[in-house]
Parts: sequence; structure tokens; C-alpha cells
Amino acid sequence: MSLKTAARQARENAHAPYSGFKVGAAIRTASGAVFVGCNVENVAYPEGTCAEAGAIAAMVAAGERVIAGAYVIADSPLPVPPCGGCRQKLAEFARGDVPVTMATTGGLAETVTVAELLPGAFSAAHMDNT
Ligand code: THU
Repeated sequence: MSLKTAARQARENAHAPYSGFKVGAAIRTASGAVFVGCNVENVAYPEGTCAEAGAIAAMVAAGERVIAGAYVIADSPLPVPPCGGCRQKLAEFARGDVPVTMATTGGLAETVTVAELLPGAFSAAHMDNT
């Protein structure tokens, strides 16, 4: 299944009664498997989670660690970029050259890389103090 179709389907299941803004995400791993997520809001607003975070959690729970591509879709006028926290989460499992497609349900799409989303990313190398 394409990442576009997977993300669109996942978006339908989003729990977004507070923002009314449903988001779907799909990631393909190096093995070719696809994992999806949707935003899951909570009445205690800060407890809500993003679509990308859900997809990444599903990937890790299945024993996979290497993101080869990601797709995010929402019903918005412009393609929806991952939030700052999700950029860092993607960078944990994706090389800088991995493509991230941001799309609207209306048909707009824009593809950027993980490095473009998070220039100067904090990485394990920054903790190398030996
Ligand atoms: N949201 C995502 O799930 N992913 C994004 O990339 C941007 C924002 C969600 C969080 C919240 O449930 C809603 O969109 C409004 O911010």
C-alpha cells in the first residue's frame, strides 16, 4: 500500500474532538513495512499525541528502527509540517536524506528531507564527551 493511502486511511481514525484537526501519518521502514498513526487528543490537552508519534511508536513496537520515508496528511489549506517534537522523533530513526511528504486532503503535496526539517539536529554525537 502507498504511504499516501495508508496515511489517508489512518487519518480517518484520528481522535481530534478538541482541535477538530485530524492528521494521519505513515512511515515506510527499510524492510518495506508500513506503519501508520493518527493524532490522539485528550481532554487534558497536553496529553494528546501527534500522528507521527503514533506511527513511530507502532514501528518500534513491531521491532523496526529505520525509517526510509514518511508521509503526513491533514485537511488544511497548506501541507502540514511535522511539529518540532515530531521532527526530533523522526530524526531519531531516519537519516537526514530521508524524504518526508507533507500533504493536504485536497491534493497538495510537498516533499522535504528530515535534515531540512531539523537543521542542526541534536544527536548522539553531541553527547560524545570521551
Ligand atoms: N498534529 C499532528 O498530529 N501532527 C502534526 O504534524 C501537526 C499537529 C496534531 C496535534 C493536534 O492533535 C492537532 O494536530 C492540532 O494541533
